Amino acid sequence: MPDSQPQVPSPTDEGTPQTQFPPGIAWIDGRFVPMSEAKIPVLDWGFLRSDATYDVVHVWKRRFFRLDAHVERFLASVAKLRLSLPFDRAGLEALLHETVARSGLEDAYVEMICTRGHSPTFSRDPRDAVNRFVAFAIPFGWIANPEQRRRGLHLIVASVPRIPAASVDPTVKNYHWLDLVNGMFEAYERGGESVVLKDLEGFLTEGPGFNLFAVKDGVAHTPDAGVLEGITRRTALELCSELGIASAVAPLAMETLTGAEEAFVTSTAGGIVPVGSVDGQALPAAPGPVTQRLSELYWHKHADPTWATPVRGLSASAT
Ligand SMILES: Cc1ncc(COP(=O)(O)O)c(C=O)c1O
Repeated sequence: MPDSQPQVPSPTDEGTPQTQFPPGIAWIDGRFVPMSEAKIPVLDWGFLRSDATYDVVHVWKRRFFRLDAHVERFLASVAKLRLSLPFDRAGLEALLHETVARSGLEDAYVEMICTRGHSPTFSRDPRDAVNRFVAFAIPFGWIANPEQRRRGLHLIVASVPRIPAASVDPTVKNYHWLDLVNGMFEAYERGGESVVLKDLEGFLTEGPGFNLFAVKDGVAHTPDAGVLEGITRRTALELCSELGIASAVAPLAMETLTGAEEAFVTSTAGGIVPVGSVDGQALPAAPGPVTQRLSELYWHKHADPTWATPVRGLSASAT
């Protein structure tokens, strides 16, 4: 090699940060590997074009929560994107059970992904691609830290609008997150902790990994369109019915949020989380009484066989 040839630094060179991976297990390209070895080729269109769909279900105290609903949404997303999976629904569920069991995690964040993959002939035609399925289980993660969950998230309403639903169907869970990520940076710059985006008509939509509810005049309002139909959102609406709390699924105006008695966000990564302030204005209560009642019932339901499915092959820890 000529002396003038620039040297490519090796990733182990001093000063190059080593990437850390959480404990857990992934299933990729037909085998189980530790998270540090779960890698997709850079030519996968899931990476190059965000041409992929995914779903996240959680495991709490060794039980899946609403596994059926997550699997149904994932299969619907796969079909809408004209992707295909290497197995049927029963095979998918069996694999998710085995992934969690092998991880040994009692509280887990479990993701299933289908990417477009790439074409074996390197054509640009997505019909030629061989789709790739990946699943993994890592420790349960929260959209808000313990302090934020106690006193409520400080939300900012971003100036960047959510990608229009007519362009990218938000009911297909997707990785088109640049609007949300830009919104997060805007929120941090304006002293907030997380963000919600409006649609092009100025109605509120959702945030990075969560749906939004505003409780006004005792009614829990959440947007009807332009959002992922979150499983936790659906759960919150069902729990509202069970508790006799009125709800409204309709376009959500900014004034409904700023004039709310209380507000909360919903996510598989954290459940029902109170909102403390909007654009720097504190809400009257955080967590408010509706948020508290819903949250208590939400966690209580994690032991109810209607929604909770024990992970097969995951034995209780000795502690
Ligand atoms: C954009 C977006 N909205 C809402 C949600 C909440 O959906 P779920 O309750 O199914 O976790 C998510 C979850 O990741 C999301 O990515």
